Amino acid sequence: MRSFALTVLAVASSALAQINVPGQVPLNPVEPLQHRLAYAGATGMTVSWNTYEQISEPTVYYGTNSWNLTSFATGTSVTYASSLTWSNHVKITGLTPDTLYYYIVSHTNCYNCSELAPYTFTTSRETGDYTPFTVAVAVDLGVMGATGLSDTSAGAITVNDSTTIQSLARYVEGFDFLWHPGDIAYADYWLKEQIHKYLPWVSVDQGYKVYNMLLNTFYDEMQPITALKPYMVGPGNHEANCDNAGTTDSATNISYTVDICIEGQRNFTGFRNHFRMPSAESGGVENFWYSFDHGMVHFVQISTETDLGHGLVGPDEPFGVEGNFDSVGQDAGPFGTKNEQYNWLQQDLASVDRTKTPWIVVAGHRPFYAANPEGGVCLECITAFEPLFLQYNVDLVLAGHVHFYERNAPIRNGTADPNELNNPSSPWYILNGAAGHYDGLDPIEGSPDYSRYVQNSTYGWSKLTFHNCTHLTHDFVASGNGTVLDTATLYKNHTCAAPASNVTGTNSSAPSSDHSGSASLKASSVLFAVVLATVLMVAL
Ligand SMILES: *[C@@H]1O[C@H](CO)[C@@H](O)[C@H](O)[C@H]1NC(C)=O
Ligand SMILES: *[C@@H]1O[C@H](CO)[C@@H](O)[C@H](O)[C@H]1NC(C)=O
Ligand SMILES: *[C@@H]1O[C@H](CO)[C@@H](O)[C@H](O)[C@H]1NC(C)=O
Ligand SMILES: *[C@@H]1O[C@H](CO)[C@@H](O)[C@H](O)[C@H]1NC(C)=O
Ligand SMILES: *[C@@H]1O[C@H](CO)[C@@H](O)[C@H](O)[C@H]1NC(C)=O
Ligand SMILES: *[C@@H]1O[C@H](CO)[C@@H](O)[C@H](O)[C@H]1NC(C)=O
Ligand SMILES: *[C@@H]1O[C@H](CO)[C@@H](O)[C@H](O)[C@H]1NC(C)=O
Ligand SMILES: *[C@@H]1O[C@H](CO)[C@@H](O)[C@H](O)[C@H]1NC(C)=O
Ligand SMILES: *[C@@H]1O[C@H](CO)[C@@H](O)[C@H](O)[C@H]1NC(C)=O
Ligand SMILES: *[C@@H]1O[C@H](CO)[C@@H](O)[C@H](O)[C@H]1NC(C)=O
Ligand SMILES: *[C@@H]1O[C@H](CO)[C@@H](O)[C@H](O)[C@H]1NC(C)=O
Ligand SMILES: *[C@@H]1O[C@H](CO)[C@@H](O)[C@H](O)[C@H]1NC(C)=O
Ligand SMILES: [Fe+2]
Repeated sequence: MRSFALTVLAVASSALAQINVPGQVPLNPVEPLQHRLAYAGATGMTVSWNTYEQISEPTVYYGTNSWNLTSFATGTSVTYASSLTWSNHVKITGLTPDTLYYYIVSHTNCYNCSELAPYTFTTSRETGDYTPFTVAVAVDLGVMGATGLSDTSAGAITVNDSTTIQSLARYVEGFDFLWHPGDIAYADYWLKEQIHKYLPWVSVDQGYKVYNMLLNTFYDEMQPITALKPYMVGPGNHEANCDNAGTTDSATNISYTVDICIEGQRNFTGFRNHFRMPSAESGGVENFWYSFDHGMVHFVQISTETDLGHGLVGPDEPFGVEGNFDSVGQDAGPFGTKNEQYNWLQQDLASVDRTKTPWIVVAGHRPFYAANPEGGVCLECITAFEPLFLQYNVDLVLAGHVHFYERNAPIRNGTADPNELNNPSSPWYILNGAAGHYDGLDPIEGSPDYSRYVQNSTYGWSKLTFHNCTHLTHDFVASGNGTVLDTATLYKNHTCAAPASNVTGTNSSAPSSDHSGSASLKASSVLFAVVLATVLMVAL
């Protein structure tokens, strides 16, 4: 029985593979690929997707009834120098909060297209809705498979384990959105992977094609998650440019710098074009810094890559301790005026109504605290932002960049809060850079007093569960088998202002029966793909 099911799956996926292999150009250049969602306020949703040709009027058709997708919204199709694809962005407004919608985009159901059935999204929970919910967080997540993390790459993954992308896809109905605060795809590893002979050698001037192939492979691989759940992103160092802050080929003694990056592959250009975060709704700047409410939580994305501003001299970006490999030579930003990010963050935090959103969670790519003092810690970030986190009683700060998992204590100026997780007066810091990419995990260096649990042997993602206005649980989910390796719950004495109905969570929307409806529609798309592929094979 089991092997029969596997055979059918294998046939279906090989048939599908002839239509749309991640990273490969589809038969039809307007085929919608890489569907992704982003919250745009409680009554909005941005739907984005990519095509290999520009389309004239990108359109999303949507509705609460899958038989009747007559409502529509239109947007723009954008590209940039050296990109192989166009990003199509459509912001839908006037939606009902916390409601399930079905949607399709332009050219869905086109001849030769493999994307056929409607996807779904659920709009944001209203500010002040105390219904419990769960969020997934992954940082430092790169291409999986033959062009990225595999059983033969530098940081090997066990062949029978699920990758983090597969694990997130499996649990996709279990979280409201996926947050990815930086290091997205690791396309800037194209040269390193060639030098390691992991990828075939392509001359440096043609390298932009390999860079693009890696980017598109990653975005294609993420579609089973990002087509269904908002994918909220922030900037990481690997989005900055194409050269991974300098790459040396020891066989030839050639050192490559940012100078090899052609136009379109510097200064966060791809990242700026590919995503549309709700900065307009929150007064932020592009995908670099912004905030949004979801139920009882105010979520804040900051940029640790540029625009640190406040109190810093010299370049407006992190330079870390001397010799910090990662942070030199980025040659990017700024994206705001001096201190703009700092001033925005102060205003944003000051204006939070804690009776409506008792929780404040901040994510930034680089860690403020980590068992990795020489390399990854962003000292400039502490200078720039920690006083605001303390002043405004931020509850949780998430980061990655250093590639392991470390749950720290709540920390004030380098010292663990004496209350630990029992109503601390300082933010809780969790570092989870263990989502996985070509290079694998990093060494743990030292054991700071504030460190509570640290591991660098298992890939995984973070699951945040907001139970109510006083309790928040963080789980480290091992991607390989879904096991929770570490769990901890924070208690805060927040003032709870919701009526009982919200607290008990009886008003949760998005019933699971609606989701299974979309799952069966996807199954029919696989079937259609099999039929279409068979027709194509016969034709060949
Ligand atoms: C469909 O695919 C076939 C085979 O690759 C191709 O020849 C044809 O041009 C495609 N049709 C369209 C409308 O893209
Ligand atoms: C389809 O949806 C539109 C917009 O919501 C509505 O006006 C129309 O009555 C619906 N049609 C049917 C047949 O349900
Ligand atoms: C409770 O939740 C509903 C939405 O489900 C919201 O309209 C209402 O404002 C919430 N009440 C409070 C006090 O936050
Ligand atoms: C993977 O699973 C197969 C089938 O159970 C087993 O034969 C094989 O040894 C496993 N490989 C590894 C590396 O664990
Ligand atoms: C590279 O440089 C090192 C010293 O800098 C030298 O020992 C080595 O021979 C050089 N290798 C090549 C291939 O030039
Ligand atoms: C990066 O782009 C921003 C926005 O266009 C620009 O202001 C800044 O000068 C650029 N930085 C570099 C190093 O090119
Ligand atoms: C932070 O700690 C350092 C010592 O580690 C101390 O010199 C400094 O005054 C402290 N700053 C604040 C604001 O408490
Ligand atoms: C909540 O805890 C803080 C310490 O974190 C304390 O200063 C405050 O007085 C407490 N508030 C209430 C209402 O108990
Ligand atoms: C994990 O950290 C330990 C201690 O630094 C180190 O010996 C080991 O090599 C690290 N593992 C990986 C995969 O980096
Ligand atoms: C809040 O959630 C926690 C964890 O589930 C639970 O122990 C606690 O009783 C809840 N508090 C209220 C007031 O429901
Ligand atoms: C699941 O994976 C974790 C991490 O690799 C491992 O420690 C654990 O033994 C596995 N559990 C099962 C039931 O295989
Ligand atoms: C659930 O929320 C809706 C608004 O979203 C409201 O009309 C309804 O009364 C709420 N039900 C309960 C039990 O609170
Ligand atoms: Fe990073």
